[in-house]
Amino acid sequence: MVDIDKIKNIAVIGGGIMGSGIAQVALLSGYEKVTVIDLNSEILEKTKKLILERMELIQSEEKLKEYFASNEKLKNVDFKKKLEQFASIGILANGVDTETIMGRLNTDTDISRGIRDANFVIEAVSEKLELKKRIFKQLGEFAPPQAVLASNTSSISITKIAELCNRPEKVIGLHFHTFFPIAGMLIEITPGEKSADDALEIGRMVAQKFPCITGERFTVRLEKEIDGLIGNRISLPILIYMGWLVDTANKNGFTFEELGFLQMLFELADNIGIDTIYNILIYFEKYVSPDFAPAKYMEDLMKSGRLGKKVGKGIYEYNEDGSIINLPSIDQNAFRLLAENLNPEIFPALTFNEACRVLEEGAVKSYELIDKIIFKGTYSPGPFETGKDKYKEWIPLLYKIAEKTGKSYFKPCEMMESGKFLSLK
Ligand SMILES: NC(=O)c1ccc[n+]([C@@H]2O[C@H](COP(=O)([O-])OP(=O)(O)OC[C@H]3O[C@@H](n4cnc5c(N)ncnc54)[C@H](O)[C@@H]3O)[C@@H](O)[C@H]2O)c1
Repeated sequence: MVDIDKIKNIAVIGGGIMGSGIAQVALLSGYEKVTVIDLNSEILEKTKKLILERMELIQSEEKLKEYFASNEKLKNVDFKKKLEQFASIGILANGVDTETIMGRLNTDTDISRGIRDANFVIEAVSEKLELKKRIFKQLGEFAPPQAVLASNTSSISITKIAELCNRPEKVIGLHFHTFFPIAGMLIEITPGEKSADDALEIGRMVAQKFPCITGERFTVRLEKEIDGLIGNRISLPILIYMGWLVDTANKNGFTFEELGFLQMLFELADNIGIDTIYNILIYFEKYVSPDFAPAKYMEDLMKSGRLGKKVGKGIYEYNEDGSIINLPSIDQNAFRLLAENLNPEIFPALTFNEACRVLEEGAVKSYELIDKIIFKGTYSPGPFETGKDKYKEWIPLLYKIAEKTGKSYFKPCEMMESGKFLSLK
């Protein structure tokens, strides 16, 4: 029987966008000690500042209201109800103040020291396989024997990450779906080939305990590992398509600022981190299909160090307060060019095809579960809700865009083309 109460200390490796957000939810869950480990004290000072800012956000009704109002998908959420729900979970509800909570936060630059009394470790370093393998080797050497070792990887196989670790049975995936862990409901728990059942169960219970301000925390345990998990994997073909489209627009002389109708997508990419997306694509190019090779504009952004909002510039440039410096506009010529290439049905068709591949690969057994996962991750209806009635119309469309872009990955997979998914409700 798994005893979650034995978990007192959490260590987080990497104090960037995700590490600081994960430390925040761990602190709010009430653990005695949360230690963040990163390369140097300057980064760790930034991590502390980020955590504190995020604490202030959730403690100010006014700021929370602003956050809910600024997020299109949260506009219809009953803010008052959510606030009540949030007040009933987490340790803030028991009158513990931010200062006390921050007092439980430790930082370290030495991994062996930082994890020596951790019961649960969550790795959130940059999305690079070799780096993660090295970290898990160290986790195996220095963490206490019972500790569960989780990775927040967005795309990489847990089996590969655990390759150099002396206890792969303790290694699991624990993936937050958004760059703001306290605000995203979905956490995916993934097994590697050698992950033990009790490590996965502890991971699920720890994840379930992390508070969430937008609704009930939703954890899902995948049957089998799959590159990119489910929430991200399904949206990746759109990313390849958008890459092709943006390169086409750039080749025709249009700047990012002139492609104002893509502002939401561009800002999302800058928030996630251009390097994180780039590294995911490189991994997918190697292990899934060459069609995932990053678009030229991504290569250019990487070369010039434009890694996104975290460094003040990515696709756009940002002021200190996070606002965009040169506000994008809609150039009519650019609009015409994109409109010629943009049939709105392409997006649900690509997503549906990828969701069928996820079923084909056996990550979960039911398409209704995929719909639920997507809804909990993005507030959008799942791909099968509309796809099950429209997929036959989308088959010729997918063949057409595969030909137009030269990317055969867009062709419908067997699960979609045959309609076999219908038997996996
Ligand atoms: N950004 C997102 O939206 C998002 C969402 C879910 C999961 N993820 C995943 O989370 C992980 C971290 O992403 P991020 O966005 O926080 O990246 P980030 O670049 O913001 O942070 C990575 C941190 O890792 C640190 N680091 C690098 N090497 C290290 C080492 N040897 N020891 C300790 N720290 C080290 C870096 O200094 C940096 O602070 C990645 O695997 C990413 O795929 C990202």
